[in-house]
Formats: sequence, C-alpha cells, structure tokens
Amino acid sequence: MRVLVLGADGYLGWATCMYFSRLGHEVTGVDNYWRRRVSREIGPGPLIPTPRLSERARRWEALTGKKIGIHIGDITDFGFLLSIFRQHMPDAVVHYAEQPSAVFSMMSRERAAFTVRNNLIGTLNIIWAVRETVPSCHIIKLGTMGEYGTPNIDIEEGWLDVEHNGRRDRFLFPRQAGSLYHTTKIQDTDLLWFYVRTWGLRVTDLMQGPVYGIMTDEAGIDIRLLPNFNYDEIFGTVLNRFVVQAVSGFPLTIYGSGGQVRGYLNIMDSI
Ligand SMILES: NC(=O)c1ccc[n+]([C@@H]2O[C@H](COP(=O)([O-])OP(=O)(O)OC[C@H]3O[C@@H](n4cnc5c(N)ncnc54)[C@H](O)[C@@H]3O)[C@@H](O)[C@H]2O)c1
Repeated sequence: MRVLVLGADGYLGWATCMYFSRLGHEVTGVDNYWRRRVSREIGPGPLIPTPRLSERARRWEALTGKKIGIHIGDITDFGFLLSIFRQHMPDAVVHYAEQPSAVFSMMSRERAAFTVRNNLIGTLNIIWAVRETVPSCHIIKLGTMGEYGTPNIDIEEGWLDVEHNGRRDRFLFPRQAGSLYHTTKIQDTDLLWFYVRTWGLRVTDLMQGPVYGIMTDEAGIDIRLLPNFNYDEIFGTVLNRFVVQAVSGFPLTIYGSGGQVRGYLNIMDSI
C-alpha cells in the first residue's frame, strides 16, 4: 500500500515509517520540524541527538535498500498538503502531526492559540485533501485516552448506548478533557466523526494511553535510527521520564497526589 505518515520526524512517526517500509509498503513521511525546534528552544531537547528526517531516511535506505520519501512542510498549509496527496495518492494516511503536549498548551494564550490552530486546521486539511484526491483513503488518527478524562463509569470502546425517558440511542462516549491539548483532540474527533457521517470518510480514531520505550525491531539496526526521545516536563511522557530519572538516580516526580492509575503502551505495541 501507499502509506503517508504525517509527523514523521516525531517519536512515533519515524518508528511507524520504518515499520511499514520494512513490511514492503511504499512510505512517504512529512514533517515541519516544529517539535525539534521548540523542544530545544524551551527545554533541554532530546536525550540523544537525532539526525534529521532526511538523513535518517538516507541511512535507512543504505541499510535496507528500502526508500522512504520525505517532504518537509507544514500540514496547516493546505496547498502544500494537497500537493503531497496529489503526488502520492495514498491508500492510508497516519496522522501524528500535532502539538502533543498538555503542558505546552496551558503555558500561555499564544501557545494555547497555536495548539488549537495547528491541531484543528491540520486535521481539517487532511480531511479535505482526502476528499479532493483519494476519498477511499483510510485516515488513521492517533487520539488519546485523555479525551475521555476520568469518568466514574467504565469507558466503552468508542460508543455508549443511552436510555433516556424511555428512548434509546448510541453516542460517542462522552468526553471531558483535563487540558487544552486534550480538548483539541476531542475537537479532532468531532471533526472526523462529522465528515464520516457527512461524506462517508474511512477513519480509525485510536484512543490510547501514554507510550513508553525507545527500541523497535527497526530502530535496533542502527543507533542513528532511534526515535526522538524527550524526557523533560514539557515534552517527555511520564514513563519515559521515570526511566531517565531512575537511570540517573534522580527521585521520581510525583504527579498530583500520586494516586493515578493508567494504561501504558510500549512503542512497538503502539505502532
Ligand atoms: N507519545 C504518546 O505517548 C502519545 C499518546 C497518545 C497520543 N499521542 C498522539 O500521537 C501523535 C504523535 O505523538 P508523538 O509523541 O510522536 O509526538 P511528536 O511531537 O514526537 O511528533 C509529532 C510530529 O509532528 C510534527 N508536526 C506538528 N505539527 C505539524 C504540522 N503542522 N505540520 C507538519 N508536521 C507537524 C512535529 O514536528 C513532530 O515531529 C500526537 O498527535 C499525540 O497527540 C501520543
């Protein structure tokens, strides 16, 4: 299949590119290097230096003989995104290209506005690019368990059957996030679900918990193929931070009262 990975330079994006490439699919990756730039400007940057996406793709080809196409650009620029879709006509698009930090989204009005604009316009542009080029393209979108918040009833897989005043209906499970970032993920879900209902788009919107780990079968081939790995309080996910703190002999940071229970995924399971 022709697979387009948006956010290909990111923690999950690059590992996904290599995974599908190894399986023999024709993979194209897109990123605007936003995360790299910002994590160095406002934090310590990644744990180990990661070569740029185009260099990693060259390294991958040299080691495996498989080509991963790379485009550097911003998916909120519709002209740019449309040209990528026209050129590659993907069978599936994996959408990771978002501002993914809850902390970042809560730091200032400017960062809140950036998160809303980047995440929602990005998702809307993908929907329209699919509609205008390959309407049968399967959109795979990574949402988060954080969309559900922490309700005091069991969380259902997507849908909830509700009986009210003697009548029944099915709704998306109610969502109530605990950060602006998570709220934009809810709004993404609403956009996608609206266009599924309206245009019959094919979408898998996957709600998953925080990812941990750095090693995948493909990344193990060469240290320069490892994913970007942030461990700081803005871009590091919790278990990855704990691992770095444990290894460096730093006390583990307690979050809130320390009583949360969460489901975590290893990066290989996530991919
Ligand atoms: N990592 C996790 O634990 C986790 C858990 C649940 C959901 N998610 C979701 O998965 C997705 C990927 O997460 P990640 O940890 O790989 O994040 P990441 O920041 O490492 O990767 C996202 C990539 O997208 C790029 N990007 C952002 N906006 C862009 C734009 N407008 N145009 C082009 N590129 C853009 C960034 O530069 C970055 O390289 C995010 O949407 C995140 O919300 C991640």
